[in-house]
Amino acid sequence: MKSLKNKAKIAVIGGTGFEKLFANFQKVIVGTPYGIPPPLFVGEINGKEVAFLPRHGLEHSIPPHKVNYRANIYALHKVGVERILAVNAVGAINKSLKPGDVVVPHDFVDFTKTRPTTFYDEAPVTHIDVSHPYCPEIRKILIKTAEKIGLTVQPKAVLVCTEGPRFETPAEIEMFRRLGFDIVGMTGLPEAVLAQELEICYASACFVSNMAAGMQERLTPKEVYDVSRKVQPKMEQLLIETIKALPVERKSCPCAKALKNARLK
Ligand code: HPA
Repeated sequence: MKSLKNKAKIAVIGGTGFEKLFANFQKVIVGTPYGIPPPLFVGEINGKEVAFLPRHGLEHSIPPHKVNYRANIYALHKVGVERILAVNAVGAINKSLKPGDVVVPHDFVDFTKTRPTTFYDEAPVTHIDVSHPYCPEIRKILIKTAEKIGLTVQPKAVLVCTEGPRFETPAEIEMFRRLGFDIVGMTGLPEAVLAQELEICYASACFVSNMAAGMQERLTPKEVYDVSRKVQPKMEQLLIETIKALPVERKSCPCAKALKNARLK
């Protein structure tokens, strides 16, 4: 067996429901300075080594604001991951979107409140540049692949991440709409930033599970879950085809050098 260090170069971070896709993968428990994340499932897709991390744990028992994002990203870094494909359920703020649509955000706004947001709490003081909030190389391939397999995909969107676990109020969603945000979720941040802090490429394939608060009568987690189950096969296909299409080495994105100019000394 290979050492832990080189187990996988690509990771998928998803909610529950992807277990079947990774059923014959090897279960690996990885310790980190931040705690123990849910088990990773490591295996091959088309000759590429892939690690799957169920963000909310195997029993879907970890709410969005209690996910140990630092342990999750650090564990992936520890097994050698260079690129992350994240799957996130989101509510639509932009009225042109509808449940079932796939959205590949190009930017985000962080409205979380209680989550540790960085690996760099001590010297050397580190300021990561987030001018490219998501990996441009993976985004391009995700969008092209989604179009190729016939999905309705929105190739540009601003995601706002809220703290949860409650859904938003209609006034919050109205404010977000006026500010130009398109989709709202509870799990995109600080995940995306933590990946960049470890020079890991990160992009998100979001699926719309509901119209956001105030745009439909009520919101329930069951509705989010039911839509998740419905879109599951197409999200799986999107992930597999995207992994197949990713070039073996990272080429055109700035992610691998994210720390290069992030420190004064
Ligand atoms: N708001 C926040 N997070 C979500 C939503 C929502 O409407 N839908 C799915 N995740």
